[in-house]
Amino acid sequence: MTFNPLEHKGIPLDKQLRNWRELDVAPVDPDDADPYTRCRIIALNGIEIESIMFSHHFARVCPDMEVKRQLAEVRYIEAQQQKVVNWLLPGAASPLETTIAYEQVAVDLTAWVARMEPDPQLRQAYEFGVLEDFDHLYRYANLYEMIQHRKAEKIVDGLTEVIPGRPTRYHHRHPHDNVREPYEKTTADPLSKLHALTIMAAEQQTMNFYMNVGPQYMEPIARQLYQEIGLIEEEHVTHYESLVDPGETWWERLVNHEYAECYLYYSFMETESDPRVKAIWELHLNMELAHLQAACDLMRANDGREPEEVVAPELPVPVTFEPNKEYLRELLDTQIDLTTLGAGYVRDAHERFERMQETVMGGEQPPSDVVVDMHTEKFGSDYRHELERS
Ligand SMILES: [Fe+2]
Ligand SMILES: [Fe+2]
Ligand SMILES: [Fe+2]
Ligand SMILES: [Fe+2]
Repeated sequence: MTFNPLEHKGIPLDKQLRNWRELDVAPVDPDDADPYTRCRIIALNGIEIESIMFSHHFARVCPDMEVKRQLAEVRYIEAQQQKVVNWLLPGAASPLETTIAYEQVAVDLTAWVARMEPDPQLRQAYEFGVLEDFDHLYRYANLYEMIQHRKAEKIVDGLTEVIPGRPTRYHHRHPHDNVREPYEKTTADPLSKLHALTIMAAEQQTMNFYMNVGPQYMEPIARQLYQEIGLIEEEHVTHYESLVDPGETWWERLVNHEYAECYLYYSFMETESDPRVKAIWELHLNMELAHLQAACDLMRANDGREPEEVVAPELPVPVTFEPNKEYLRELLDTQIDLTTLGAGYVRDAHERFERMQETVMGGEQPPSDVVVDMHTEKFGSDYRHELERS
């Protein structure tokens, strides 16, 4: 079945405003919920926050009062959507539990995107990044058992493996080596644009989350680990945002954002296992369809272009959260020792990389190694959760 968001009107914008009762959604059950429902909540929260922040940035450079008002109106609806989506997360989870879920999203969403990406250069960017978030999951899982005496397999629920990836200590690259070449907007597959925006949004929210929750812990190792991985998420945002063509106009970017929201809500509506949550994805999809129409009208008026010149004529296959363990094992076998040099990838450490490493390590072990050593000292081994190979 194909779905073309451009052919649907959705819920009229002036009917989208919700009251307190409608916003007050019951969270999903922390013990019972499908872990991939939680992953979908987190991914959608990321895309809503991206839409909100993008709209704010647009408003700040937009001299046209009428457009500013229109942006503000849609953005308020996005803000309500973000509240509904993120408030589905149960309050019972600790920040560290949510962190582990964030890394699970980074792993399984990026792996899925890498598998589907048609452009080999973009695919390489996702394959490179996913092995790092895979390792973050392992480091945080070791911290989790140490300070909360619980096992991360309860959270990832046998869907995602918790094993070492590319060791976190090697993620600290010189910032110049985190900037990739962008896709070219006129020749890029529309799917590539959707992928880049989706992963950029996910990494951006992870970066923001660690910035804020990291210092909420009292244990020194937790504070240190959040600092270290928080800085790598800064690198990841740099890496992924550089994939997007900076030559896209603001109007075009607005259309791309609304289209990406349609794509994710449609995808998750198609794949959601919890019927109550599915109904929310469907409602939000119907709101996004109207946002997309409004964005297309703005682009027509200001760029003189039709949306068909920018976005796909129909939605690609739905984004699916599913286990990627075989794929990740294969990447581990072939790409674990990669680093970057300029816009490309190399296998050997180079001078700029080594200088950066020396400076940030300051002659000591990074927190990501210390956490595993501390865990080994306390429990006799590191924490990992390996699944049988099928
Ligand atoms: Fe939205
Ligand atoms: Fe990460
Ligand atoms: Fe990341
Ligand atoms: Fe939207």
